[in-house]
Amino acid sequence: MQVDLSQAITLLQRGEVVAIPTETVYGLAADANNDQALSKIYALKKRPANNPLIVHIAEVGQVLDWAEIFSPLAQRLAAVFWPGPFTLVLPAKAHVSNILRANQPTVALRVPNHASTLIILQQSGLALAAPSANTHTQVSPTTAAHVTASLGEHVSVFDGGACKVGIESTIVSVEDDNWHLLRLGMISEAEIEAIADQPAFKGNDSLPVAPGQQKLHYSPNTPIQLFASRFALQAYAEKQEGCAALIIGQGDIANAQTFCLSNNPDEAAERLYSTLHQIDALHKNKLLVETPPKAADWSAIHDRLERAAHKNT
Ligand code: TXA
Ligand code: MG
Repeated sequence: MQVDLSQAITLLQRGEVVAIPTETVYGLAADANNDQALSKIYALKKRPANNPLIVHIAEVGQVLDWAEIFSPLAQRLAAVFWPGPFTLVLPAKAHVSNILRANQPTVALRVPNHASTLIILQQSGLALAAPSANTHTQVSPTTAAHVTASLGEHVSVFDGGACKVGIESTIVSVEDDNWHLLRLGMISEAEIEAIADQPAFKGNDSLPVAPGQQKLHYSPNTPIQLFASRFALQAYAEKQEGCAALIIGQGDIANAQTFCLSNNPDEAAERLYSTLHQIDALHKNKLLVETPPKAADWSAIHDRLERAAHKNT
């Protein structure tokens, strides 16, 4: 059910759950200091209790309400990438809810870059825990209609238009002078490396993980198969009935209902999930996907497509 900005604020202040837009995907938001409200998020999403939530804050000045340590490296990254599609995992203050952080010693924080959501954060005076507003393992929503289709009409949604970035934030954990990349997003590893002035710390067994990064994720109902070339995809499509095809750039695949994503990775990311939602609604036998170029600025899109295809490989 749609709610307006002031209704969204009132509901959140009362400990209710409201789906809100961000620049990445829609989030299912609740007061990050209210355990009862947080439990409603897990129940609505059917999310396992061991998968922690990101806390959305209005400005960088609120980091120390949540994090025990905000190192100079973390401060530099926040100064450059916030507000924006970038999440920092930092050592948590002792008072931070164990439901929120799923008993991790850390807390994930982000200042989103969405005008209405920043107003909600400021005017409510709350910090908002918000995972993507979809059922666990499904494709994330990038419009208010996707949220309602996934979670049902009883869930309150504030419609702030279609999300501009289109895939979830890049997640980085910072410990002392090191940073780890926990989830790829449209802020690339190279951009972070340039600001951090050092490469990501890799190859340590005790490496922190984002518990939600299991292989099966971001999955449409339609089985997905990835193809390394359009030629291979076309050859397969000719022998199959009832398929859809998703290709990069212009074109048409004979014998498959064809959908095109832009050659530009930012534009492709913006449209990726809404295109997957659209294709899912057609109930095709299979979705054949042309894998994007093997270039760094496509790496987050590769990551999401591989996860979306995982149950079929
Ligand atoms: O763009 C986004 O990040 C969106 C919007 C709504 O902000 N949110 C989002 O939330 O994608 P969610 O819950 O779908 O994914 C958050 C990821 C999960 O993989 C979770 O395990 C990880 O962040 N995470 C959260 N807190 C963490 C922590 N303390 N340590 C490691 N990973 C954490
Ligand atoms: Mg999610």
